Amino acid sequence: MTKTALQWGGRFAQPPDATLLAFGSSLEEDLVLAPFDVRCSLAHVAALSGGSIVASNVASALREALARIASEIERDEFASVARACGAEDVHGAIDARVRELCSNGEGEWLHAGRSRNDQVATTLLLYARERAEEGATVSLEIARTVVASAKEELAAGTRLAATTHWQPAQPVLLAFWLVAAAEPFVRAARRFAACAKAARASSPLGSAALAGSTLPLDRIAAAKELGFDAPSRNAMDAIGTRDEVLDVAHAVARAVTDASRVAGELVIWCTPAFGYARLGDASSTGSSLMPQKRNPDPFELVRASAAELVGAYAGALGTLGGLPLSYHRDLQQTKRLAIAAIERGIATLRAFARAIADVRFNRERMNAQAAGGYVVATDVADALILAGISARHAHALVGAAVATAEREGRALTTADLAALAKEAGLATLDAPLDASASVRAKRTTGSTNPDEVAKSIRAIEEEMRSFK
Ligand code: ARG
Repeated sequence: MTKTALQWGGRFAQPPDATLLAFGSSLEEDLVLAPFDVRCSLAHVAALSGGSIVASNVASALREALARIASEIERDEFASVARACGAEDVHGAIDARVRELCSNGEGEWLHAGRSRNDQVATTLLLYARERAEEGATVSLEIARTVVASAKEELAAGTRLAATTHWQPAQPVLLAFWLVAAAEPFVRAARRFAACAKAARASSPLGSAALAGSTLPLDRIAAAKELGFDAPSRNAMDAIGTRDEVLDVAHAVARAVTDASRVAGELVIWCTPAFGYARLGDASSTGSSLMPQKRNPDPFELVRASAAELVGAYAGALGTLGGLPLSYHRDLQQTKRLAIAAIERGIATLRAFARAIADVRFNRERMNAQAAGGYVVATDVADALILAGISARHAHALVGAAVATAEREGRALTTADLAALAKEAGLATLDAPLDASASVRAKRTTGSTNPDEVAKSIRAIEEEMRSFK
């Protein structure tokens, strides 16, 4: 520990224990916050000079030092400087570097009226805002890619035997499945946008550890410089809350969970047994031993990441339980877990965006499979209901017809419709017997009817356009 890095010490007779200092360090985890802390420190200079607490030459020297640190961060040089100075966290490291860079002791003024608590809280909000914006952007990118694919598949009329419980359920258009895959990412983008807005609302700078300051800090200038709507209303809450960064961690965990469901289904679709989809060479991996293998690893990793992020989010939220108001060191753990979840989550969404753009569907195979599994049985039962047969009776009649056809190893035919009509006391019965007729026959809003799918695509595209 160099002398410059230690931000306290006057009241201690002994230096800190090196092992405990290392145990308490958050530097490796919070280095990602460095550019945000520089902005936060520059805004604090605005608060100091706005309140005439520092002379203008001191403010200029501080700004110059911070600009220099910003370029060190940009050039990837700052991490080693920070590690070498022995500071406990990135906030201390930036303060230490400012003191080192200012030749006439101007750096000794930077920390007037602020605590690292203020730095941590403000910096985390700036970080949360930026990552939330990134989350919205990548979620929209995923949605756009999937919707573009939906338009192609709608034009091609590709059918899919949609499942519940992984058992054939009803025929749908592949485009309908794709829109279902895209919708959660539009919701994710909305969630991220709300997080970014919340992280912009209130600036903790000037909270001065927990109680506010006797120095005339210009909190409005600081808030304005950082793009916040206003200074926070209560210093104790401002430095103690982690709501916004947790909301971003939550939004990330939710979006990756959505991605994980789509990825999980695509993993199955890419198996030769299904043969519905193929992931391109650039996104697939091979085996070191089995020459024929092509594995959809990105989708498997996306599938797995959801659990990791939910765990990190739960851990981060759990650290707040029972914690008294204001700052407590436990919040360092909250920060560590939230950052880990957010960084991994955004990287996962980016990887998912790339991989999903590299999926090709096997239309022939899907169309061929869409006819099997008695997936039109519901439509046949519906036809009976429309002809005045009660729902339970229709269900039982069609169930029995399916059982007979299955025993005989064949699909339902017009002869089955004629037999059903007779059993139900009807003159005739007309019902869809193949996947195309089935989807065309669907008539409710939001159904897999091609016109409804086209309408939903237009609506989702309009909603996506409203983001910018
Ligand atoms: N490294 C700590 C963190 O990131 C900073 C703690 C500052 N406050 C304090 N009172 N020790 O949360």
